[in-house]
Amino acid sequence: MSEANLVDALREQAHPVVSLVAEAAGEVVGHIMLSPVSLGGHPELRVMGLAPMAVAPAHQRKGIGSALVRAGLEQCRQLGFGAVVVLGHPSYYPRFGFLPAARFGIGSEFEAPEEAFMLVELQPGYLADVTGTVQFHAAFKDL
Ligand SMILES: CC(C)(COP(=O)(O)OP(=O)(O)OC[C@H]1O[C@@H](n2cnc3c(N)ncnc32)[C@H](O)[C@@H]1OP(=O)(O)O)[C@@H](O)C(=O)NCCC(=O)NCCS
Repeated sequence: MSEANLVDALREQAHPVVSLVAEAAGEVVGHIMLSPVSLGGHPELRVMGLAPMAVAPAHQRKGIGSALVRAGLEQCRQLGFGAVVVLGHPSYYPRFGFLPAARFGIGSEFEAPEEAFMLVELQPGYLADVTGTVQFHAAFKDL
């Protein structure tokens, strides 16, 4: 499944979804999506997963991705979510407060280098004393 199909599937099946676009001169040049994930053994916790996200190559390195991440995290906070996870570039996400999830004792169902699976708490201490494995929406398994 392509990322475009993943976006369609999440829009139809996940709830709530945070989906933002960046525009330049009337053209969509960036997109970010966040949808709920589950943390095994802790159905009461409200955690979002950041994916997918992309900025058009000609518009990269202008701060558009950063603006999308910051706005996306803020919307999750306003929706009452306590943390956000991401499987992504370990040199990109720490600037937004993401830390390796392993430090919290939290892993991903997907195999990935340990430092690539990161999380940020939107409410300080939200994941203190919590461990487990994050499961993404079923649509991610078709990627
Ligand atoms: C990653 C991405 C979303 C960043 O968007 P952007 O608008 O270029 O980001 P910003 O302008 O806000 O930030 C630029 C910074 O991100 C860094 N960056 C960009 N792509 C990166 C990558 N693949 N790995 C690590 N850092 C990256 C740049 O080095 C730059 O760092 P600096 O500020 O220290 O110079 C964009 O490069 C992209 O769409 N890449 C292809 C798709 C992708 O990788 N999506 C993310 C999946 S996790």
